[in-house]
Amino acid sequence: MSEDGRFVSGRPRKSDRDNIALRPERLADMFGQDRVRENLSIIIEAAAARNEPIDHVLFYGPPGLGKTSLAYVIANEVKANIRVTAGPAIERAGDLAAILTHLKKGDILFIDEVHRLGKAVEEILYPAMEDFVLDIVIGKGPAAKTLRLNLPRFTVIGATTRLALLASPLRDRFGARFRLDFYDPAAIERIVTRAALMLNVEIRSEAAAEIARRARGTPRVGLRLLRRVRDFAEARADGVITAPVTQQALELMEIDHLGLDDVDRRILSTIIEKFGGGPVGLDTIGAAISEDSATIMDVYEPYLIQLGFIDRTPRGRACTEHAYHHLGIDFPEEPTAGQQRLI
Ligand SMILES: Nc1ncnc2c1ncn2[C@@H]1O[C@H](COP(=O)(O)OP(=O)(O)O)[C@@H](O)[C@H]1O
Ligand SMILES: [Mg+2]
Repeated sequence: MSEDGRFVSGRPRKSDRDNIALRPERLADMFGQDRVRENLSIIIEAAAARNEPIDHVLFYGPPGLGKTSLAYVIANEVKANIRVTAGPAIERAGDLAAILTHLKKGDILFIDEVHRLGKAVEEILYPAMEDFVLDIVIGKGPAAKTLRLNLPRFTVIGATTRLALLASPLRDRFGARFRLDFYDPAAIERIVTRAALMLNVEIRSEAAAEIARRARGTPRVGLRLLRRVRDFAEARADGVITAPVTQQALELMEIDHLGLDDVDRRILSTIIEKFGGGPVGLDTIGAAISEDSATIMDVYEPYLIQLGFIDRTPRGRACTEHAYHHLGIDFPEEPTAGQQRLI
């Protein structure tokens, strides 16, 4: 989880400060994800016309694609208060009850990592989302009574990198669900250019394009590369981000022309060299390169799959011929032992 980070209290982490400054405020400040933005603006307009809060919204997809940003943007667009929390932060049913009873009409409750809510907490959330009621049990044993409180109409915005881990009753209670996909380089280029403007740094358009090509379709990665290249430009050049400066900085960071870094390459080379190209289980790969398998699954693997370098098979992950070529390793003519088992 290095990139997306775990939820740490309500205060932004230090490294997030720049991020917050760069967060888009309105839908119109966001680039890419056109279908998602179009659908959201329809939902927002229609709810405004009915003078009602918007339906519950779920965003899912790999880290860094804009789920959290979209939650804040929606809050701005509908001029609502946003209350931010995360699945692992709500430990007991009582914690959620306390949050719910403090909501006002039209408020937005953003739950990040919503797949990590506990069962007991989910049970409270279902009626709250569906009927805007909160059932509180008072007392214990046979004398226990249930008290039903009405809640104001509010909106839950959920975000998750793992749709599959979301209990289906919870998933079903989100009236609008949006899958975020990797961005095309043109959209990332616009995001990087806008961020450079906000950071007050001069960037040449070829440099922005180069950063965008190596950003693995992910705005957060593009912005991170921008900041590192800016440091390089300030420390080793005259501060202007030109194409040569960008090339040198990215080379120093060991980011190749597809945007793969050292960890990506270790994942691929481990599958190929230690496990005959796969298939091999994610946990085994994680153990071999000392990375958390959840991080591999959330952060690294989606882009490697998108590039067509890794196949997800029922028996584990396997490298494709493209991955061999990228690493400059000969693709075996004869299927390896591992691949033979697949047939
Ligand atoms: N469509 C976009 N346009 C502009 N900036 C974006 C866009 N999507 C994401 N970003 C930026 O990328 C970074 C990561 O986005 P974030 O919303 O935190 O992703 P997620 O919650 O999906 O992990 C933020 O700094 C955000 O400002
Ligand atoms: Mg997020």
